[in-house]
Amino acid sequence: MDYLQIKRVKSLRGNIKISGAKNASLPLIAMTIVAKNSVHIKNLPHVADISTLLKLLSNLGATCEFCEDRVIVDTSTLAQTKATYDIVKTMRASILVLGPILARFGHCEVSLPGGCAIGQRPVDLHLKALEQMGAKINIEAGYIHAVAPNGLKGCEIVFDKITVTGTANIVMAAALASGETTIVNAAREPEVVQLCEILNASGVNIEGIGTAILKISGTNGELVEIKEFSVIPDRIEAGTYLCAGAITRSELTLTHVNAKHLGSVLAKLEEMGSKFTITQDTITIHPSKVIKPIKIVTQEYPAFPTDMQAQFLALATQAKGTSIIEEKLFENRFMHVSELQRMGADISLNGNVATINGGTKLSGTDVMATDLRASSALVLAGLVADGITNVHRIYHLDRGYDALEKKLEAVGANVKRLKE
Ligand code: EPZ
Repeated sequence: MDYLQIKRVKSLRGNIKISGAKNASLPLIAMTIVAKNSVHIKNLPHVADISTLLKLLSNLGATCEFCEDRVIVDTSTLAQTKATYDIVKTMRASILVLGPILARFGHCEVSLPGGCAIGQRPVDLHLKALEQMGAKINIEAGYIHAVAPNGLKGCEIVFDKITVTGTANIVMAAALASGETTIVNAAREPEVVQLCEILNASGVNIEGIGTAILKISGTNGELVEIKEFSVIPDRIEAGTYLCAGAITRSELTLTHVNAKHLGSVLAKLEEMGSKFTITQDTITIHPSKVIKPIKIVTQEYPAFPTDMQAQFLALATQAKGTSIIEEKLFENRFMHVSELQRMGADISLNGNVATINGGTKLSGTDVMATDLRASSALVLAGLVADGITNVHRIYHLDRGYDALEKKLEAVGANVKRLKE
């Protein structure tokens, strides 16, 4: 297995190109199931989760052609409707094929995605919404068996909780359903917005894009023509590198990024002392020498994203003062804390609230990645720790960061990918 060896350097400098968003790419790849044509997707990030979902579609009979600047997905040959455990267990977002496959074929079996390190990750809201649309769903031997022999029918769906992939799943199901589906309490993440925008441009009329109430007029089973598109920039990857600039007190410029998707993250970094120069598709961070402590509560978009919680917790260990970070979306998303404590961070946990007494020197040691964003938090800590930090189990990191060590090396970091 690979691990990253990180040694502190004085500072970083230069440009980092942000890749396409993993969490936009996943629903957009699933969306090809409702297309009648081969779909050209540009700017897909080279990360494990994308390869996993493309492999799942290939296993179901679709063809995925990799060209230099795009992937071409043709689901006209899709014949299978069973997403098996061997793939789903490696990536729970495989649940995103359920809505479109059920809407297109009238039946679908998807292995129940297990929980993951950060939480139980139920899919009850996805299933309840599909049942409201006329699906019959039962769970047997760890599989979701869904049938809709008469097709899915539009209706009003009120999500008890805001769910990102739940919203995406139902938007895709509603696209082929008969009649209008209204989703109340829809997720407003940019990744959901792009999915809606592309479907809307493909003839699926969607009103309220970007708001909490979506109205989708289904095509009644008619597949749609989806023109070539480019995946939006990854706001979480971008936020992670901004934290790298802040924690190492380095001026970094991110390119191919959309600052509009990072409002709450930029606001918190400004509160901690950083300043920014922003253009249409770049962000330059001008970090402060002294990092101020911060109070953060993770919530749904456009509030502060849970996917940036671990990175800011690492940053807070270097702040002058005490920070408070409350994780409100997932029940177990503080596993990076024990690893940071081993590096010397002064953090205490009380339920889902972390108190970080900043200003402690971090010492490099062997640490273990436990989930995708925790991994990046340990890398950030390693950038400012004395000695050598070895981050193990970076298969977690490889799920969602495209060439992280290369991007950091290119701006002067001493980060090497080595074999155990
Ligand atoms: C998406 O996960 C992201 N993944 C996650 O990013 C992100 O952390 C999360 O949204 C929240 O922003 C992808 O987009 C592939 P949810 P998702 O459904 O859709 C509860 C990363 O690091 N819930 O919005 O699975 C759930 O338990 C990953 O890139 C139900 O109770 O999250 C959680 O408390 C990690 N029942 C809350 O809702 C359901 O049926 C939000 O979950 C669905 C969700």
